[in-house]
Amino acid sequence: MKTVNFVRMTLPAKSVNEAYARVAAAALASQVDPTIEQMADIKTAVSEAVTNAIVHAYRGQEGGLVYITMRLMEDGSFIVSVRDRGCGIGDVRQAREPCFTTAPSEERSGMGFSIMEAFMDKLQVRSAPGRGTTVTMTKRLGR
Ligand SMILES: Nc1ncnc2c1ncn2[C@@H]1O[C@H](COP(=O)(O)OP(=O)(O)OP(=O)(O)O)[C@@H](O)[C@H]1O
Ligand SMILES: [Mg+2]
Repeated sequence: MKTVNFVRMTLPAKSVNEAYARVAAAALASQVDPTIEQMADIKTAVSEAVTNAIVHAYRGQEGGLVYITMRLMEDGSFIVSVRDRGCGIGDVRQAREPCFTTAPSEERSGMGFSIMEAFMDKLQVRSAPGRGTTVTMTKRLGR
C-alpha cells in the first residue's frame, strides 16, 4: 500500500507534549476528509498512547523521548506508531486487559489500551522489558 503523506516527530516525554501529538494527528488526518467522529477517535487514541509513553515508560528517568510516525495511505487509512525506549511491558496481554493498571494510586483506570482498541480499527503492541514499547494503530478514514 502506498503512503501518500507522513510525519515523523521526536518529542521529550513531557506531559505538555501530549496535546502537541494530538493536534499533529488531527492535522494530518484532516487531509483525507474524515468525519468529526473519526477525527475525535484518532485524537483520543493517539493521546492515550502518547500519555502511556510519558507516564509509564520513563518512570524516574530524565530525558526520555517519544517517537511518533503517522502515515496516510492511498486507501484512506491512517496509521500511527508511538514508540519509546523506556522500561517496556513484561506481559502485554495482561496490560491490554480492561482495568489493568500498574499505577492505581495515580488514579489511572487502566482503560488506555481498551480505548485505543475500541476507537481504532487495529491495535498492535510490541514491547520488551528494558527495551521499550511500540504501539501501532490503524484506522480507515473517509465517508
Ligand atoms: N509505553 C509504556 N511503557 C511501559 N508500560 C506501559 C506503557 N504503556 C502501558 N504500559 C503499562 O500497561 C498498563 C495499562 O495501560 P493502560 O493505558 O491501559 O492503563 P493506564 O495507563 O494504567 O491507565 P489509564 O490509561 O486509564 O490512565 C499501564 O498501567 C502500564 O503498566
Ligand atoms: Mg494509559
